[in-house]
Amino acid sequence: MSYRIGYLVGSLAKGSINRTLSKALIALAPDDLEFTEIPIGNLPLYSWDYDADYPPEGRALKDAIAASDGLLIVSPEYNRSIPGALKNAIDWGSRPWGTNSFARKPTGIIGASPGGIGTAVMQSSMRAVLSFLDAPQLNAPEAYITFRPDDFGPDGEVRNEGTADFLRHYMAEYDAFVQRVLAASAPGHIGDE
Ligand code: FNR
Repeated sequence: MSYRIGYLVGSLAKGSINRTLSKALIALAPDDLEFTEIPIGNLPLYSWDYDADYPPEGRALKDAIAASDGLLIVSPEYNRSIPGALKNAIDWGSRPWGTNSFARKPTGIIGASPGGIGTAVMQSSMRAVLSFLDAPQLNAPEAYITFRPDDFGPDGEVRNEGTADFLRHYMAEYDAFVQRVLAASAPGHIGDE
């Protein structure tokens, strides 16, 4: 059995270190995870004026989330919070009212920065947003990646063995978490009455 994972990269920069990290995560993930990027760079700035007639970009985002068994957010921290383009995408996915695409979608949050905090403050903001949106989140392990250029090749090859081991472990735990959430929401589960 394989699981479809939609991943969002929170940076629009061509040389994004978080895009590099996303490639590393995909390369080190268990074989039963199939990854598809959910692009965020083409979305207009969200306004609820759009709710009456969602544009194709907004519908495509919601369709891509619906088609995913789990989501993986790989994002930088901007000014101690969530980058605007990523928050905009989350706002698009959360609406129109009553059609929140993130509800019950198992989600992992990870990010890299050159500094020692490793996107911890962004991740904390993101957890508050995803909690409000009723998305179950992988709580442990946490993954705050300090990006050292020598540790990563441009295609996500991880040259530091300790970092590779940690990222492999993170993705194995993410895989198990997605499967736990899916099993718990399957028809006939003991909690369904
Ligand atoms: C940053 N950077 C940054 N880093 C950090 O650890 N905490 C922060 O709050 C910020 N704030 C911030 C704001 C803005 C507008 C920029 C452009 C940058 C530095 C940031 O981690 C660095 O530029 C990374 O390379 C960004 O990740 P991507 O875009 O390369 O994936």
